[in-house]
Amino acid sequence: MVYILACLAIGLPLVSAVAFPGAVGFGSVATGGSTPFIVTNLADSGTGTLRDAVSASGRNITFAVSGYIVLSSALSLSSSTTINGQTAPSPGIGVMGREISASGKSNIVVRNLRIRQGNLDPDTGKSAFNMGKATNVILDHCSIAYGVFDSIDAVGAVNVTVSNSIIALPIGQQFGAHLETGPATWYRNLWVSAHNRQPLTKANTQYVNNVVYNYQAAYTVANTGGLFSHDLIGNYFIAGPSTTSPSDDWFQMNENQKAFASGNLLDSNRDGVLNGAAANSIGSAVVLASPWNSASTGLATLTAAQAFTSVLANAGAAPRDQVDASVVASVQSLGRSGAIITNQASTGLSNDGYGTL
Ligand SMILES: *[C@@H]1O[C@H](CO)[C@@H](O)[C@H](O)[C@H]1NC(C)=O
Ligand SMILES: *[C@@H]1O[C@H](CO)[C@@H](O)[C@H](O)[C@H]1NC(C)=O
Repeated sequence: MVYILACLAIGLPLVSAVAFPGAVGFGSVATGGSTPFIVTNLADSGTGTLRDAVSASGRNITFAVSGYIVLSSALSLSSSTTINGQTAPSPGIGVMGREISASGKSNIVVRNLRIRQGNLDPDTGKSAFNMGKATNVILDHCSIAYGVFDSIDAVGAVNVTVSNSIIALPIGQQFGAHLETGPATWYRNLWVSAHNRQPLTKANTQYVNNVVYNYQAAYTVANTGGLFSHDLIGNYFIAGPSTTSPSDDWFQMNENQKAFASGNLLDSNRDGVLNGAAANSIGSAVVLASPWNSASTGLATLTAAQAFTSVLANAGAAPRDQVDASVVASVQSLGRSGAIITNQASTGLSNDGYGTL
């Protein structure tokens, strides 16, 4: 109250807390945890492990170790958790083999984490990151690959942002993300080689400066129930070897949907050159003349062509590992390489396709 009065007195804008500097969108309201916890052990469980770290709420987790954590069961996050993968020494931190679940939890911040489920997980009903019925979640600079059910499952999730992340090579249903309820923000992500759901979003949505490569279908609401509004700005869709119908960039967008679409491009010719054409016709969605959410325009600071350069340079967990390097190289081929796969081993990378960290 004192702060608010002081701001009013000296004319400062009232800015609410965000997850971290630069956090954007609906999930940026997450504040995560504040009690320091340092991960010192790459084992699946026990003192000083990530599983230990996420077992109590309120933790702000950093890493003194790097490499893959091989999960032998789903990793269930507590509410009010921050995972600061960017604090791990090079080459960074990742989890492989099972789902991370924030199901039913609230106030979660995950940054700079490699999340690689893959077929080490025997449960084909699990996803790489599950946030079903979760509230106030932001994933930023994460690299999510080899998801089995979905890469990201977010049915019933409220206030979500997925930003600056790589969402690639789902192997089971071969789907990117499934979000219902919302609202949700998808910002500057690189989506690569999925059959569909990049994302499936039955929610009021901001979809800004994303790059989608080698899709069969990309952004969808799946023609089923629900009336939602979509701000679709400055995204680049690029056909690849697995793209059967480039015009399925906007997929099953029926007249129940309302869409503001501006500055989106589609490069459909697989000629190794970035040369897209305008793609602002969104199925039979009702055309909005201005964004449904007034903040969307402020998020759209890049053209689609600029987003391509920026997202290819910056998306995902840093530093890039073998999986991300291979994914990004396929995008850089601009139509010549890339495949939708059913088993991570078919990438040809070491460690049964997970690559080494
Ligand atoms: C959490 O840890 C990160 C990394 O050390 C730090 O930058 C951040 O300020 C911490 N946040 C809180 C709320 O303590
Ligand atoms: C979602 O975020 C808004 C602020 O943008 C907040 O008012 C609302 O309470 C949040 N919803 C939940 C369920 O926490």
